[in-house]
Amino acid sequence: MVSDDSILRSLLSVIGNSYSPYSRFRVASAVVCSDGRVFTGVNVENSSYGLSICAERVAIFKAVSEGCREIKRVYVMSDCGEPIPPCGACLQVISEFSRGDDTEIVMYSPRGDGVRKRLSELLPLRFSFSSVMDRNI
Ligand code: THU
Repeated sequence: MVSDDSILRSLLSVIGNSYSPYSRFRVASAVVCSDGRVFTGVNVENSSYGLSICAERVAIFKAVSEGCREIKRVYVMSDCGEPIPPCGACLQVISEFSRGDDTEIVMYSPRGDGVRKRLSELLPLRFSFSSVMDRNI
């Protein structure tokens, strides 16, 4: 799998593309797919605030639209100084494209301090494909 150092460099190179004139909170993300491909994303805000989208979902939707359906690792970095976790909406989207609970979430500060968690630690109860498809009706 691609190294953390190489992803850290990618995050630092794209975080300036964040379109965040309202919050002034820049975020970059990268996802590593099961086939080894890496997709990056940044947050993209809108004057109609609710249309804004987080960096993680941009990276995931880029991956899915290029044919990746399984995410092994998600990286997130903001420019606020401390590592930040993905928001709840992004955790739910990560869950959709994770097989099992073991997807790794790596949270970086711009200095490269990293915190690693598993999806199951951040989202212990998952509403999933099987919640919908295996229901008894
Ligand atoms: N944001 C992300 O891109 N990812 C997160 O996990 C948390 C929040 C963005 C959304 C918004 O553009 C800005 O950060 C402030 O909430």
